[in-house]
Amino acid sequence: MALVTIGGRRTEFGGRETEDRGREEILRERADVAAFLARHGIDYERWTPAHPIGADAPPEEILEAYATEIDALKARGGYVTADVIDVKPETPNLDMMLAKFSREHWHDEDEVRFIIEGRGLFHVHPADGPVFSIEVVAGDLIRVPRGTHHWFDLCGDRRIRAIRLFQDVSGWTPHYTGSGVDEGFDPVCFGPSYVAGR
Ligand SMILES: [Fe+2]
Repeated sequence: MALVTIGGRRTEFGGRETEDRGREEILRERADVAAFLARHGIDYERWTPAHPIGADAPPEEILEAYATEIDALKARGGYVTADVIDVKPETPNLDMMLAKFSREHWHDEDEVRFIIEGRGLFHVHPADGPVFSIEVVAGDLIRVPRGTHHWFDLCGDRRIRAIRLFQDVSGWTPHYTGSGVDEGFDPVCFGPSYVAGR
């Protein structure tokens, strides 16, 4: 179940909006999360029950297991292809890969992810409101529409396995805003490791 933090989790000194620190609002209920995200044009669904996937299942097996859901999404959103991203702490050049997406950017097409395993943290910067973060976990489907200003980080366990859908693979390039807004927010997740560490 995704968790939305309106106002994000700001660093103490990093951001221009630090005067708002302490005003964060956290949404934990599925209906609240979906309704809030819908107001920002972001689709959020839970795919339950999730299909069982082996720890070492190759991408083809994952795409086959979720073929029905993927086909339905393709029909809805004009997506032409799907693949699987599989990232773990030992992935070569992981920091370099993550650095591409941890600064504020937008794309010419939707960013669609279904999380199979692990977690991640999207920050979204709407034109008409405060930055909010979405912590996505296994079973979450999220569609961030084209043009949305956002950035993405992994959580502390640096693990995510997710299905991605594309309208045009060649169009999925980050356009950086260079706003610096991302520097004011902590990529801190509130998931299992946060709970376990308390
Ligand atoms: Fe992105």
